[in-house]
Amino acid sequence: MKRIAVLTSGGDAPGMNAAIRAIVRTGLDKGWEMFGVHNGYSGLISGEIAPLGARDVGGIIQKGGTMLGSARCREFETEEGRRKALAQMEQQGIGGLIVIGGNGSQTGAYELSRMGFPVVGVASTIDNDLYGSDITIGVQTAMDVALEAIDRLKVTASSHHRAFLLEVMGRKCGYLALMAGIAGGAEAIMIPEQKTDPEKVAADLRKAYDNGKAHAIIVVAEGAQNNADGMAQYFQIHRERLGFELRVTKLGHVQRGGSPGSFDRILGTQLGAAATEAMEKGNKGVLMGTIKGEIAATPLDVVVNNKKDLDLRLLELAKVLAT
Ligand code: F6P
Repeated sequence: MKRIAVLTSGGDAPGMNAAIRAIVRTGLDKGWEMFGVHNGYSGLISGEIAPLGARDVGGIIQKGGTMLGSARCREFETEEGRRKALAQMEQQGIGGLIVIGGNGSQTGAYELSRMGFPVVGVASTIDNDLYGSDITIGVQTAMDVALEAIDRLKVTASSHHRAFLLEVMGRKCGYLALMAGIAGGAEAIMIPEQKTDPEKVAADLRKAYDNGKAHAIIVVAEGAQNNADGMAQYFQIHRERLGFELRVTKLGHVQRGGSPGSFDRILGTQLGAAATEAMEKGNKGVLMGTIKGEIAATPLDVVVNNKKDLDLRLLELAKVLAT
């Protein structure tokens, strides 16, 4: 009988629980024994591995976060750390590992698979910056949280004729800011992939008011060259000249904590089930994601050695729509 373990690693994402549930239940259906590793790679190194039955993953599909806990683990980046993890799995008779997570987590999965251990990855990060999946688990829910924040800011911005800036997560990727900005009808969007002059943004906000708009909203990605702190400072220094104040909101981890929407529950379920399928077929060292709407397996070396591009035409469209 196969013994397969699952872990979640890096930043949690809404929909991870749906993936865990699908992995455990499809694994049990194949006649395997299923195990959960607590607290990511850190728990793998210290042997926090426990059996998971069908009831253990009941009542979690609607919950954000991850029932297994997650961590960012520097020790696993070393060969010594990974050897300790392999020893723990050998001790418990674990014959395969499924890793739910984003870039850092899949890099760890790749390194483990290079050491000969059967690993399958599941694409999950709110940042949507993982090569090998057009969309990753958690993105949709996080985007909806950002969108609700934009909608709310618009209400108060319209009442006071003020300019507001919302900073959203995404690490070095502007996907969340760009998409939430488009969906929320932002007047300006600032992302790491394209340099934006704060002076130009101020001019756009001014134009919005001059054109009779009741609000002016900037959505900025945390990784943008001028993020919330940079923009707040700029508007503070040049306040007199620019002629208006900027109110800044950083959404931060609020974005990660939402209850998963239907899209992320279904994506998590599908990718989780696809991961046990891949494991059964001996399709190891791959990431399960979606490409052009289909579930697809991409080799982990391709995943970690490529960068996902952002369609900057959407930024141009957003500029046109903001007039
Ligand atoms: O990768 C997910 C993410 O939420 C990023 O958007 C963000 O930059 C980072 O994690 C925050 O990490 P932490 O939760 O460790 O502060």
